[in-house]
Amino acid sequence: MSELHPDLARVILSEEEIQERVKELAAQISADYADAERIYLIGILKGAFIFLADLCRHLTIPHIVDFMSVSSYGRSGAVSGAVRLMLDLREPIRDEHVIIVEDIVDTGHTLDYINHTLQGREPTSMRTCALLEKKRESLEVPVDYLGFTIPDFWVVGYGLDYADTHRTLPFVAELKPEAYQ
Ligand code: IMP
Repeated sequence: MSELHPDLARVILSEEEIQERVKELAAQISADYADAERIYLIGILKGAFIFLADLCRHLTIPHIVDFMSVSSYGRSGAVSGAVRLMLDLREPIRDEHVIIVEDIVDTGHTLDYINHTLQGREPTSMRTCALLEKKRESLEVPVDYLGFTIPDFWVVGYGLDYADTHRTLPFVAELKPEAYQ
């Protein structure tokens, strides 16, 4: 195996582990929505695009893919946690079965915001799917389809970035604290 980038402490999820779990999630979703006419997968940019690309190609049910983008403020600060919509969906989702697809749930503010925003558009049903969730105090945002729970440190790879770097690694790795502090 080639050497890890010096900014990375260790691989926490290998490519094989991730691919295996993504297949399981897709199988679960396909089974749960077997009777639906179709589902609407909403990927949250940029982090979810690789996860969503793999997930949707393992689905065995009809589906539509769309994207939203949000920006967060004060994510790690005690005060804010405000989220702002940067890019909206192209089509209405009224009367659709919606699954929001996130890369990682940290404080939960992003998923909570998107959940509330989309609930108001009257989908038939709405669930959430995230590849990762950090083990920490966060908002009570239910994640219906969860890949892995990880410790509370900054991770990169498989769509996740640090200042737009390391995003396209096939595995998920811990970023060394000195690389971002
Ligand atoms: P939350 O609103 O605090 O749950 O943050 C969710 C968003 O923050 C994710 O969609 C990611 O874009 C970003 N994020 C949180 N933790 C990490 C991390 O460890 N690596 C990369 N991005 C992260």
